[in-house]
Amino acid sequence: MKDVLQQIETGADRHLAELKEFLRIPSVSSNSSHRKDMERCAEWVKGQFEGIGLERSEIIPTAGHPLVYGEWLGASGKPTLLIYGHYDVQPVDPLDLWESGPFEPSIRDGRIYARGSTDDKGQVLIHIKAVEAHLKAHGKLPVNVKFLIEGEEEVGSDNLDAFIAENGERLRADAVVVSDTAMFDRDLPTITYGLRGIVFFQIDLEGPNSDLHSGSFGGAVANPGGVLARILAAMKDDNGRVTIPGFYDDVAPLSDREREIYRSLPFDEDRYKKELGVEALSGEEGFSTLERVWARPTFEINGLLSGFTGEGAKTVLPARAMAKVSMRLVPDQDPDQIATLFEQHLRALCPPTVQLRLTRMQGGKPCLVPIEHPAVQAGARALEKGFGRAPVFIREGGSIPVVATFSDLLKIPTVLLGFGLPNENAHAPNEHLDLSNFRRGIVSVAHFYDELSRTSL
Ligand code: BES
Ligand code: ZN
Repeated sequence: MKDVLQQIETGADRHLAELKEFLRIPSVSSNSSHRKDMERCAEWVKGQFEGIGLERSEIIPTAGHPLVYGEWLGASGKPTLLIYGHYDVQPVDPLDLWESGPFEPSIRDGRIYARGSTDDKGQVLIHIKAVEAHLKAHGKLPVNVKFLIEGEEEVGSDNLDAFIAENGERLRADAVVVSDTAMFDRDLPTITYGLRGIVFFQIDLEGPNSDLHSGSFGGAVANPGGVLARILAAMKDDNGRVTIPGFYDDVAPLSDREREIYRSLPFDEDRYKKELGVEALSGEEGFSTLERVWARPTFEINGLLSGFTGEGAKTVLPARAMAKVSMRLVPDQDPDQIATLFEQHLRALCPPTVQLRLTRMQGGKPCLVPIEHPAVQAGARALEKGFGRAPVFIREGGSIPVVATFSDLLKIPTVLLGFGLPNENAHAPNEHLDLSNFRRGIVSVAHFYDELSRTSL
């Protein structure tokens, strides 16, 4: 490993320059005006694969944005690792809250600011540079690797499951590694062993055939904004529980051991509130904050729109109202079943005074990774080498839908080695990545490949 670590050290400036190149490409998957940028970004990733010396690399078109695949299979008799990540990023609005342009990477206080820096381009590049360091040092890798970098994670990975289903042989591996999560805290290396799933909907309510004068018609005609507000408010009770009948039926209860582990983590609720700028927290009665976010399902309003929102006052009774909502799910809830229960409940709550249109959007299953799995344990040893201390094991409230697919279709576990930090503004203005974690990330995953080569899977 000495030569590999040496390569990582001498490559530092170049790694950073390449990270900037990657971050300059505005690969926003949700916006069709960025289609060309998505292609350019996929090409950039393929160029990296070629440049570091993978044996094969390929851009694979899908019905949506292309996948980038690369492989190096020269370690005969050694385990095969599938490395998954995403090159697409979230939209950047509100743009005026960014201190520097979202696609003009800027370094301040040891952090690189740009959309996609922590989620997930920086973390994808960590793996590419670790593989490169091994190849530069020894002309070979300690394990076989297959890279699968997609362009649709932030919009629900719609075309990925089909690709995985049809390419089981090509993707065959002993384990997957994903770096698309965060560390529990600064200097605290972390393995995530659980993620929530998600179902997402758009709700459209239509009332009268036009906006109306609220004086002439208010009180006689239902206001879709008001109807929507009542429906949404009814989705949770006063104890913070979701009211959809059957919603909790399949929720796996938290074991005492897990609750104990959560309690032992250095979680400072006052600091958490302070950092978020809230006076008080809110959630399901009977559960701690970490339990609420990691191991309990929730219903959230992601967006709301109705009526007049411009400057000044306008006495209008809006003709329509719209909401985007999602439910985060935990094992063993099934997204399809929850979607059905939600739709039934919503229709039951919706009065005849408005017309309801419901559109289901992205989704994904929750997952749990067995901590005892030898690949996860190899990850823990690698993090200890990279950070100088043993990792903590946590769950996360976010979702990476493909992790359940890897387990269901390829029957392999996913090691979630994340190098982001919780306050790096993923999906928000001023997203950034701590450069010391970028560096320690490359070192850690270089160790991970090495550890895996000595692990029987
Ligand atoms: N990197 C995140 C997943 C994540 C979020 C992990 C928070 C740990 C903590 C990923 O890019 C993401 O944002 N996923 C989406 C998936 C959705 C669009 C289906 C999410 O969780 O909202
Ligand atoms: Zn994301």
